[in-house]
Amino acid sequence: MAQVRNIVILTGAGVSAESGIDTFRAGANGGPSLWEQHRVDDVATPEGFARDPDLVLRFYDMRRAAIQTKAPNAAHEALARLDAEWPKDANHELLIVTQNVDDLHERAGAKRVLHMHGEHLNAWCTACDARSRWTGPLIERPPCPRCGERALRPDVVWFGEMPYEMDRIYEALRGADLFVSIGTSGAVYPAAGLVRNARDLGIATLELNLERSQGSAWFGETRLGPASVLVPAWVDEVLAAL
Ligand code: APR
Repeated sequence: MAQVRNIVILTGAGVSAESGIDTFRAGANGGPSLWEQHRVDDVATPEGFARDPDLVLRFYDMRRAAIQTKAPNAAHEALARLDAEWPKDANHELLIVTQNVDDLHERAGAKRVLHMHGEHLNAWCTACDARSRWTGPLIERPPCPRCGERALRPDVVWFGEMPYEMDRIYEALRGADLFVSIGTSGAVYPAAGLVRNARDLGIATLELNLERSQGSAWFGETRLGPASVLVPAWVDEVLAAL
């Protein structure tokens, strides 16, 4: 493997699948997929929330409770090892951009994580804009710890809303020499477009996924298999080439 110094990693639901968290779309793994069981318009849009806030709050309360019963898998642990062992000097950079709203990267020990689609364990106050760490339910409309208004919603980016920190992601990509996509179907933009941005910038691109993603043709290299196997092997390679 050519030596790399500056890596941007994009992760998706596939990286948490082996921890027992449902992916969004059905795929080769054949497991239950979240968007087959729920209408996206009902539970993952601002309009759905305005129409039936109880339904939406209950849905996210269940998801928030569920992720706290799950544990990181070998893929999260390998990325945390990469983060810990990646040099922290001016010549090296690493950013793990995740679409996942679970906290399994952090619980595995990764530090350089950016949640572009928000976090289950945050509540966002629509009155004062504060984000608060939140592990319990929101259905009873608890007051915002900062302003006291009962205006908390899940801090999760819904369809039709802008993902977080896109400027920081594009900036990291501009300095990268390798873009790696792990466990994402490539169905949801702008995350799905990052591989094309990377290609336009002349950056090497690698896909690690159970099956070919929708944007698979854009990647310079694709490795197919479970993240718990592919990611530790790739991390070994990239650290050995340091
Ligand atoms: N190892 C590697 N990849 C896997 C595994 C596994 N064990 N299990 C499933 N996958 C792959 C699937 O083959 C699929 O390509 O992970 C991908 C999961 O795709 P999605 O369910 O579409 O998840 P994701 O790409 O993260 O979804 C993007 O869609 O609904 C929104 O906001 C939500 O962040 C989410 C976004």
